[in-house]
Amino acid sequence: MTRYEELLQSLPKDPKVWLVTGVAGFIGSNLLETLLKLDQTVVGLDNFATGYQRNLDEVQSLVTPAQWQRFRFIEGDIRNLEDCRKACEGVNYVLHQAALGSVPRSINDPITTNATNIDGFLNMLVAARDAKVDSFTYAASSSTYGDHPGLPKVEDVIGKPLSPYAVTKYVNELYADVFAKTYGFNSIGLRYFNVFGKRQDPDGAYAAVIPKWTAAMIKSDDIFINGDGETSRDFCYIDNTVQANLLAGTTRAQGALNQVYNVAVGDRTTLNQLFSAIQKSLQTNNVNAGNNAHYRDFRPGDVRHSQADVGKAQKLLGYDPRYDIAAGIDLAMPWYVANTSE
Ligand SMILES: NC(=O)c1ccc[n+]([C@@H]2O[C@H](COP(=O)([O-])OP(=O)(O)OC[C@H]3O[C@@H](n4cnc5c(N)ncnc54)[C@H](O)[C@@H]3O)[C@@H](O)[C@H]2O)c1
Repeated sequence: MTRYEELLQSLPKDPKVWLVTGVAGFIGSNLLETLLKLDQTVVGLDNFATGYQRNLDEVQSLVTPAQWQRFRFIEGDIRNLEDCRKACEGVNYVLHQAALGSVPRSINDPITTNATNIDGFLNMLVAARDAKVDSFTYAASSSTYGDHPGLPKVEDVIGKPLSPYAVTKYVNELYADVFAKTYGFNSIGLRYFNVFGKRQDPDGAYAAVIPKWTAAMIKSDDIFINGDGETSRDFCYIDNTVQANLLAGTTRAQGALNQVYNVAVGDRTTLNQLFSAIQKSLQTNNVNAGNNAHYRDFRPGDVRHSQADVGKAQKLLGYDPRYDIAAGIDLAMPWYVANTSE
């Protein structure tokens, strides 16, 4: 049995209190769904900057009334220390997801990204430290590899950041490390690589590529492929990401603490391959996918290639990514078909 399978069995017998910040967002709402289904108590914090009430409503529709009763939502802002303190009260495990994602957003508005991702992160560290939580796991990012060309990416070899967003996520790691050294406050950073799945927002200027293209194909809208389409990413299905969070939040192994881990699959898919994979999956779902693709310039701040070595998470956390990109796209597609109007 894998460590995750053991965890799925043991957690409901010994329920804990989890704080999920960014709970109304894509990754946060998927964490919420899994935790409630495991009969855990969950406190959620969100200010709806990029998250939605509809994500919380959907989770409510997927769990039992008794499970939903174990969820307490706080509408609040991580830039406000008091909101963070309120959210951390009585919590065992923190899964800190709240942040402003998107490289282009951070280029257009570095100040708001900085305030949320750095000031807000520091507030959460202070609040969690003072509340004496049992563990603190946070969303780091593959953008921290920056301009380092090496592939696959290994955790201790990074380059210089290529965007304000990447700076903020790297600063998170630096603060986490300093909190371990100066206050003995332990944490774990999970460097996500292009996560995708249901409830990831397809709308707006800063949407991620998989939901954006999927919705555009369903609606027969134009699709823009940046550069030559040979830019590659290690796309990671949401259930792998949820697994990494639960493993990190509950680990007791001293050697696993105060580390950062790649969270991905270990594969590399180009934008051109991704385009074909989404098109194929939509056809399987009986959707006549549009094909209005146009190539345009490379996007500033983008890393050219990204692929993770996930060996460290496998070894120290027992991480076992179960879904490759093809399996993930097939699982996510029915949700996009059901939730996109043509
Ligand atoms: N999705 C990815 O591929 C990816 C990759 C690397 C890292 N990450 C990180 O994972 C985390 C979650 O990302 P996501 O994809 O679910 O994005 P998301 O935008 O769907 O979720 C982020 C949530 O944080 C909330 N939030 C933002 N600012 C806040 C504030 N000041 N106070 C309280 N809540 C606030 C938003 O309202 C939203 O619900 C982020 O930290 C992001 O940087 C995501």
